[in-house]
Amino acid sequence: MSLREVCQNMAEEIVAWRRDFHRHPELSFAESRTASVVAGILRQLGLSVQEGVNGHGVVGELVGAAPGKRVALRADMDALAIVEETGLPFASAVPGVMHACGHDGHMAALLGAAKVLAGMRERLRGSVRFIFQPAEEIPPGGAKGMIEAGALDGVDVMFGLHLWSEYPVGTFYTALGPLMAAADMFTITISGKGGHGGQPHNTVDSLLIASHLVMAAQHIVSRQLDPLQSGVITFGQLQAGSAFNVIADKAELKGTVRSFAPEVRDLLQRRLEQTAASMAELYGARIAVDYVRGYPAVINHEQEARAALAEAEAVFGKEQVGIMQPNMVGEDFSYYLQKVPGAFCFVGAGIPEGPVYPHHHPRFVIDERALPLATEWLCRMALRYVG
Ligand code: NI
Repeated sequence: MSLREVCQNMAEEIVAWRRDFHRHPELSFAESRTASVVAGILRQLGLSVQEGVNGHGVVGELVGAAPGKRVALRADMDALAIVEETGLPFASAVPGVMHACGHDGHMAALLGAAKVLAGMRERLRGSVRFIFQPAEEIPPGGAKGMIEAGALDGVDVMFGLHLWSEYPVGTFYTALGPLMAAADMFTITISGKGGHGGQPHNTVDSLLIASHLVMAAQHIVSRQLDPLQSGVITFGQLQAGSAFNVIADKAELKGTVRSFAPEVRDLLQRRLEQTAASMAELYGARIAVDYVRGYPAVINHEQEARAALAEAEAVFGKEQVGIMQPNMVGEDFSYYLQKVPGAFCFVGAGIPEGPVYPHHHPRFVIDERALPLATEWLCRMALRYVG
């Protein structure tokens, strides 16, 4: 039987796992039931299993008959605080919690790969590590702690995937370098001195200073960043004042900074802080910048990304596989790729006849035909190194 047939024959079981996870979603850092289901299945397959890795993480190890390389494959486990509105028969049984990003499918596809590869153990040269990681959705995330707990020790190469509803089922995309941006968040609080709208000379107008700051920050990207590099500074919120004739004593700005190169990330943060400090000096206000770094950018390693594309062509067909533009969504797979070579990839899971809802939407759904395809691709990635 071909690998394709083996995976397709398992489709029903993979879908059943996915629906079970879907029905019982758990929030980031609270994936206890999910972890015990995953660990139970991996144990049944005869893998050595480590539970409680960085909270609810589970690591399964499949050791082949002969020594060789070690490949790691990762799935994330957490759901979101969303009230599900799909109306599916296996919709969430937990009020206010929903697998609205496809992580239920990631786990099911990876368990499928574990089962297929466990059945080939005698033919494997090397080992495959199955990393089930908690808390991808909420920074600081689960990946960093998994690495600190040793999940990557001895790993030569690593791959992960995200099902993606905005790409139709049967397609596969990745990038040879930057794939997903670093996504940081900031809050800037400007404390001035309130007063009468007709007597500005007795005040420090925090609203006007906020306006200058927003404008000045645009110079950072347009005049201080190399035009061939990419970066974004977006102010999404500005709150100040309470009446038309009162000068606001306080203003608060919130926004996000996105970048790919680490030096661009450093530059944008530093210049934003410097701009705020100089505004404070210039206008006599107090300005506090609270800059919170989210996940670093996901940067694929070129050689491994090419390997991922080559295996994907065998699974999805040459016409259905391609290079994608970087995506501005954050993902903590970035931490793994800072330590070991590898690639993160997008597996199309959109229902061709629609409707397509984006990830994190209450009606988010996937085409489950993507699951055995994802399993087959994961198996191929492992076999490429230990087959
Ligand atoms: Ni996700």
